[in-house]
Amino acid sequence: EEAMKDRAGRAGMLFGVAVRASQLREDADFRAAITRECSVITPELELKWAWLEPQRGQLSFTDADQIASFAARTGKAMHGHALLWHLSIAPWAAEALGDNPDWTIVRRFLASVIPRYGEVTNTWDVVNEPMEMGHRMDGLRPSPYLAAFGPDYIRRALEDARLFAPRAKLFINEFGLDYDFQVERDKRYLLLKLLEGLKKSGAPIDGLGMQAHLEIAKQAHFDPRALAQFFDDVGSLGLEVRISELDVKEADGTLPTAERDARVADAVRRYLDVAMANRAVGTIGCWGLTDRYSWLESPGGKAGANRGLPLDSALHPKPMYHAISEAY
Ligand code: XIL
Repeated sequence: EEAMKDRAGRAGMLFGVAVRASQLREDADFRAAITRECSVITPELELKWAWLEPQRGQLSFTDADQIASFAARTGKAMHGHALLWHLSIAPWAAEALGDNPDWTIVRRFLASVIPRYGEVTNTWDVVNEPMEMGHRMDGLRPSPYLAAFGPDYIRRALEDARLFAPRAKLFINEFGLDYDFQVERDKRYLLLKLLEGLKKSGAPIDGLGMQAHLEIAKQAHFDPRALAQFFDDVGSLGLEVRISELDVKEADGTLPTAERDARVADAVRRYLDVAMANRAVGTIGCWGLTDRYSWLESPGGKAGANRGLPLDSALHPKPMYHAISEAY
């Protein structure tokens, strides 16, 4: 069977997954699967601020460097994820910004991480999950960044990222955009407004990352037309779209495995039917390659109880894998 990266490559597209440095170090079979399947790898944790700079001024690049050199060695790109994220801001930085909204604190971080990976990284999630409904008219999430700098923090982060990575593509990455619930409709609408405003003001933004964390329990609210419209609207702004973190939360351990796998694949197929019909989409990325290391919650904490990634725990392709490969 043709590897996913080759299948994607024939369509002029990419296939990516999130990995951890520890997995690459410790698991040779996993390393081989990643080498074979992926055109891009995303550090699951290792580029996040709290990970890179747990204490102010003490940057530890060891793990991120390992992922970067693995990517370089195996002819892959490393997707830069994620520079500003409310959940991964270094605690000392959140505190410092709370006391004194000094942009040089943010700029110093961007300046130390972005150029370091300039060779292997040509795409960055500059701001992750900036939206949260229910707080403000503009839908922006009340994060330490918003509190310190106001809505303009997004443009400033993009400008700095552009300065430090003149040729990279810069993304805003967001979740909760996939289904036909009021809160997701509102989020799509307000995110479009944000993107439109950024484009109008000349901010250096190249695209939107759609996390696409699908859920079997929400599939009754999947509306392909509304989703297609959203992809169109983003594309019309001249932006590209990465499907950045595709996976499927299912966790109904009572059903036969074959039935669960079929449902997961069906959700993915329906999503990618819409996504791949749009020329703005060039990458499909999953938040993990295999159930062996799934970040998805498992019922009763049993490892592998969610079968929401392309390969099973034995690294064998599941129907989800084929749904993706057929979508290219
Ligand atoms: C997650 C990791 O997978 C977890 O291991 C970690 O504890 C928290 O972050 N959206 C994102 C990713 O953009 O960065 C998140 O990754 C998953 C949701």
